Amino acid sequence: MSGPLHREAEKRLDALYERLTERRETFVGYPCTADLDYRELDRFLAFPLNNVGDPFKDGTYGLHTHDFEREVVQWFAGLLHAPADEVWGYVTNGGTEGNLYGLYLARELYPDGMVYASQDTHYSVAKNLRLLKMPHIMIKSREDGSMDLEDLRETIRIHRDVPPIIFANIGTTMKEGIDRVDAIRAILDDFAIGRRYIHCDAALSGMTLPFIEEAPPFDFRERIDSISISGHKFIGSPVPCGIVLADKGHVRRIARSIEYVGTLDTTIPGSRNGLTPLILWYAIQRWGREGFVKRVRHCLANADYAIQRFQEEGIPAWRNPHAITVVFPRPNDAILARWQIAVHGRIGHLLVMPHTGRPLIDDLATALAAERTGSGLPALAT
Ligand SMILES: Cc1ncc(COP(=O)(O)O)c(C=O)c1O
Repeated sequence: MSGPLHREAEKRLDALYERLTERRETFVGYPCTADLDYRELDRFLAFPLNNVGDPFKDGTYGLHTHDFEREVVQWFAGLLHAPADEVWGYVTNGGTEGNLYGLYLARELYPDGMVYASQDTHYSVAKNLRLLKMPHIMIKSREDGSMDLEDLRETIRIHRDVPPIIFANIGTTMKEGIDRVDAIRAILDDFAIGRRYIHCDAALSGMTLPFIEEAPPFDFRERIDSISISGHKFIGSPVPCGIVLADKGHVRRIARSIEYVGTLDTTIPGSRNGLTPLILWYAIQRWGREGFVKRVRHCLANADYAIQRFQEEGIPAWRNPHAITVVFPRPNDAILARWQIAVHGRIGHLLVMPHTGRPLIDDLATALAAERTGSGLPALAT
């Protein structure tokens, strides 16, 4: 035996590597960047990293990357115009945990609150609300995926005596629709509602809109209370991760001091990933704001290219303003399986990520066209 593994186990790993390499070729339906290169971080896999506890208070567990995590949090705080020293955050396991955290803070602040979220909200939010036993009302969505603000206004009018907890989508899962936080705030102001909470789920668009001029406002300038962004989506990471930022005052209400680890318990998990803050830090160093601006522009240009190519093939594709999600009628199962396209009801979508080049878009357009014109394949489902 040459390596630490026996031959059969090595073969299993080789086969897995081959499968993943092949599947990456047609990875177009999910919002995860796939042109990753974090090889410089390989050596840190030799440490039992654990960022247990509050990133801003080092405890007794020394094998951590808290200092890098703090820099990541501060970078996002700057990006999202958080007032100096008023916002706290940590690196999560992904968007779901960040959303759970925001809702948790909201519930601790307003145990009698009512959550409002649109029909197009990610499926994990309903589960989060069940976990937290929070009452909620689903608000209608518009065709573009954003929250129907007239429905919100009417619903809040009826429940004016209950503190509203707004769960705003900054980029919905299927259509990348954006709930207008400025308009939501105006509704709450109209009803003179002071006891309120706004959480933004900016899983994907939290890393694109800050780099687009004239994008709708959604960050701390809109006096939001918390925000969750996925790290493995636009930034890109070999393992899921995310970032949550929240008003420090809300976080203080839930903080508990823990002697065993010599730190504050302010996060949802106990043991926490020490590698993902390093991954996000590395990406921030590598790309910087200018690099992200270029990557976002590149994706928007390719999203337009995809729409043009799809339309040339007779496929009615569209996207929301500022979105890198191209929506089109649900293709048949053979195409879904080959291209890993996510569907919901009558629609499917293409996510134009930094790795989604024009030849790949051309190939997908050709495949969709073949399906449409017959070529032995069933017609579109819409
Ligand atoms: C809008 C939105 N929110 C939340 C999530 C959940 O994020 P994660 O998969 O990072 O937990 C997703 C995932 O696709 C999403 O699209």
